[in-house]
Amino acid sequence: MRMLVMGHKGMLGSDLMEVLGRDHEVNGVDIGEFDITSAGDCIRVVEEFKPDVIVNAAAYTDVDGCETNLDACFAVNAEGVRNVASACKASGAKIVHYSTDYVFDGTKGEPYLEDDPCRPINAYGESKRKGEQALIETAENHLLIRTAWLYGRQGKNFVKAILAKAKEDGKLRVVDDQVGSPTFSFDLAQATKLLVERDCRGIYHVTNRGVCSWYQFAQRILEYAQVSGVTVEPIQSQELNRKAKRPAYSVLSNRKFMEATHKAMRPWQVALNDYLAGQSHIHR
Ligand SMILES: NC(=O)c1ccc[n+]([C@@H]2O[C@H](COP(=O)([O-])OP(=O)(O)OC[C@H]3O[C@@H](n4cnc5c(N)ncnc54)[C@H](OP(=O)(O)O)[C@@H]3O)[C@@H](O)[C@H]2O)c1
Repeated sequence: MRMLVMGHKGMLGSDLMEVLGRDHEVNGVDIGEFDITSAGDCIRVVEEFKPDVIVNAAAYTDVDGCETNLDACFAVNAEGVRNVASACKASGAKIVHYSTDYVFDGTKGEPYLEDDPCRPINAYGESKRKGEQALIETAENHLLIRTAWLYGRQGKNFVKAILAKAKEDGKLRVVDDQVGSPTFSFDLAQATKLLVERDCRGIYHVTNRGVCSWYQFAQRILEYAQVSGVTVEPIQSQELNRKAKRPAYSVLSNRKFMEATHKAMRPWQVALNDYLAGQSHIHR
């Protein structure tokens, strides 16, 4: 297939380029080459590359930043998605798009299913939900993948932040009242490839397997990176006083993904270990 990855320089986008590129003809565009908030730019790149599948990993992903930059956040995460979906519809291409656990309010207490009601509690979640609705209304041939707690080789992420902080001061305070499923962007790229090759459509939840709090995640990062002499203190979210509220329970059920692909995602601990082995330069 001919594929076009939007946001190819980002964390997920860069892994998509590598994974999809193994068996497909893949091109990438990112800010500088096009702007997703411009309908004209979206039409132009689709006409230029003539893809069978467009994979949209471009997004405004600064969750706290969204609270104060509402215009930019909604322009990219909601209107931008409508622009890409319209360009896909006009060209006959399939669109693959990503959304987040933050479309849910985090009160369910058991893994969220694809058709559970969405009730975002912050601006980022609200903008991503608007993007989902724009996608569903505009392009019939869509695959919408909701994921959570991503980390990867490209860009900033929680794993790199914990290792950097541990090096700096040896004492960390990490939130223990939000739980979710840490997910390696490389694994998500592989799962995307499976879903696309099976021509799956509609909404799918995809994360690495298992559940932990950010505090437990931090403990495992230090353990697997063999960082010793660092203390980690569990704290409550309110102590951090961040701009955006976060859902307390962010676990997404992977059941539909497993039924469609007959594959299970790796446990988050295995994926983390693998990631750290490949990133040994950042913690030595
Ligand atoms: N990160 C997470 O924990 C997480 C969790 C759940 C879901 N997701 C979703 O997963 C997807 C991929 O996330 P990610 O973390 O890989 O994102 P990312 O690393 O922030 O990459 C997004 C890419 O899109 C580009 N971009 C931003 N605004 C653009 C615009 N107006 N036009 C064109 N490109 C633009 C960014 O460029 P700049 O870097 O220059 O802005 C960046 O290269 C997103 O849909 C995100 O909402 C992420």
